Amino acid sequence: MIKILLTRKWPESVVQSLQSRYTVTCHNAPLSKIEWQDALQSFDAICPCVTDQVTADLFAGIKIKTRILANYGVGYNHIDLVATKAHGLSVTNTPDVLTDATADLAMTLLLMLGRRAGEGERQVRSGLWSGWYPTHMMGTMITGASLGIIGMGRIGQAMASKAHYGFGMKILYHNKSPIKNGAVVDMSAEYCADLANLLGRADFVSIHCPGNASTRHLINAQRLAQMQPHAFLINTSRGDVVDEVALIQALQTGHIAGAGLDVFEHEPAVPAALKQLESVVLLPHLGSATLQSREAMGMRVMQNLEAFFSGKKLPDLVL
Ligand code: DGY
Repeated sequence: MIKILLTRKWPESVVQSLQSRYTVTCHNAPLSKIEWQDALQSFDAICPCVTDQVTADLFAGIKIKTRILANYGVGYNHIDLVATKAHGLSVTNTPDVLTDATADLAMTLLLMLGRRAGEGERQVRSGLWSGWYPTHMMGTMITGASLGIIGMGRIGQAMASKAHYGFGMKILYHNKSPIKNGAVVDMSAEYCADLANLLGRADFVSIHCPGNASTRHLINAQRLAQMQPHAFLINTSRGDVVDEVALIQALQTGHIAGAGLDVFEHEPAVPAALKQLESVVLLPHLGSATLQSREAMGMRVMQNLEAFFSGKKLPDLVL
């Protein structure tokens, strides 16, 4: 029987489906280097996720049995693709099935920022709410505001559509090239080849580009300075797309109005300086965290495993 390792606890329905086909081992904590090396020598497939750092040193000096890393998640910046390629492993991911969940969460952050929902909730819970008055916790209008999307892929487009059709937002986007598909054209989304142009005009900026070497610290002190003082930054992609130190400074000095973050540079560590700011909303990497999406991600991994072990073309081959 084919042996599969899940590096974390998955939704039960998916584990059961996998168990009907494979010998499945579930690990429920980060693997040490020794555990990784044991796993690479014992399992036919390993299914890692974003919290597993699959680095080149794991592969050194061992005889590898594993032939595929079927990643549970769409982002794969935690996997060293050069090393996996050099050792003949295939790598797959789970696109599409978490698009709406992640865009919904980005929209949640946007709404919470504009309407000061995090602050308001803290005030009620702490017993400091003194009652209604005309100037209490005034936020900003979301309906009709402009949204700048950085990275107009699947999730960026879903976010644009929710914001435009749900809240009448004007969409600006920055991407490698303009998107010509009907959905983007129909919402009159404006392409900004120059990121500074988008940053200088958007009331809300939402990051949806993948995390990799070319996007690391894409939003740095210089870029933050290009944003308007009333604008908000939202990040549901990868933490290191934003220079966290520069972001904290921009927030502390009022260069931008606030930030909604679902991802962090050194997860799960979140700087104390961020936690102290009222103008931020902080979530623990919940982008795809709906039961429906997490089950669908598992089923997508299973489709990739099925294709791999029956010698078919891999639906979501990364490498
Ligand atoms: C993804 O799918 O990339 C999510 O961030 C979780 O890994």
